[in-house]
Amino acid sequence: MKVLGIETSCDETGIAIYDSNDGLLAHELYSQVKLHADYGGVVPELASRDHVRKIVPLVQRTLATAKLSKDDIDGIAYTRGPGLIGALLVGSSMARALAYAWDKPSVGVHHMEGHLLAPMLDTPSPDYPFVALLVSGGHSMLVDVLGIGQYSVLGESVDDAAGEAFDKTAKLLGLDYPGGPLLAKLAENGETGHYKFPRPMTDRPGLDFSFSGLKTFAANTIRACDCGEQTKANIALAFEEAIVDTLLIKCRRALKQTGHKTLVMAGGVAANRRLRVNFEAASKQDGFAVFYPSFEYCTDNGAMIAYAGCQRLLAGERTELGEKAMPRWPLDSLSPIF
Ligand code: KG4
Ligand code: ZN
Repeated sequence: MKVLGIETSCDETGIAIYDSNDGLLAHELYSQVKLHADYGGVVPELASRDHVRKIVPLVQRTLATAKLSKDDIDGIAYTRGPGLIGALLVGSSMARALAYAWDKPSVGVHHMEGHLLAPMLDTPSPDYPFVALLVSGGHSMLVDVLGIGQYSVLGESVDDAAGEAFDKTAKLLGLDYPGGPLLAKLAENGETGHYKFPRPMTDRPGLDFSFSGLKTFAANTIRACDCGEQTKANIALAFEEAIVDTLLIKCRRALKQTGHKTLVMAGGVAANRRLRVNFEAASKQDGFAVFYPSFEYCTDNGAMIAYAGCQRLLAGERTELGEKAMPRWPLDSLSPIF
């Protein structure tokens, strides 16, 4: 089955074609990062309008890259939620219009399910069950994954998401939006031992996160110093170490609690190199397997939506053309597929 996947939940227009036999056939991505950079964050109305401009040419280009026509497509998957409502409406309207015009089945995919299944695009891929750490600009979650659609949220952020904390702290350090990757780059020049940031909520039981205090700690640290480039790099490193350490402590706890031996990391922050290096080391030390998507499938993309949608379409799931986009949509309300 060949599935056209459409992702427009935030500031990336992602289109892909996934084949259940041959894997990913083509994927295209247009990032609106430059459009929003001047505003220091995503401006929802601008995001929606830009998706409208880019989506049709991207669908055409993806079909051309895969050397396929509409007649070769067996189904259409689109991000139904969660996300910015205007942005979701562009992708879901496009998907439903194509499904109607081409007379193909369509299915609405949960954006976070897309992220947590993204490692399935690579080989080797993880076996179920596993613990998933989903860390993006909008979410930080630990999920017990027994199979597709069989998710229990073990813990989540009570305030800022991990990516949001990266972006806000980067802004305090004078970096552009989105600051996560830029802060990570700055941290490469940092020296350890100058600053010690807290590891929030690790001194009490439970699997929830809280990252807004780290941003405040960074703000106070920056205010208290006459920050040259080296000092900024030292602060960036201390901040990054604190986030990575905190995530690792909670992941170890989640693995212990569930008894699972596999950890899957996904979402934009899973592209962070320090996170990967430290988690690799911990996996060797503790004897668990760790998987993460290749860098291009960590951040938002159409491939993960095409993959997840393909699994659901193969299982016979359909979303009626009249169904609405869902800006809020709890991950553990999804139906399992067997
Ligand atoms: O998954 P994603 O593309 O979009 C959402 O669904 O939110 O994640 C974007 C987030 C941003 O906050 C960005 O700063 C962060 O992922 N990010 C990183 C890195 N690459 C992207 N954070 C830390 N280190 C990175 N290398
Ligand atoms: Zn995302």
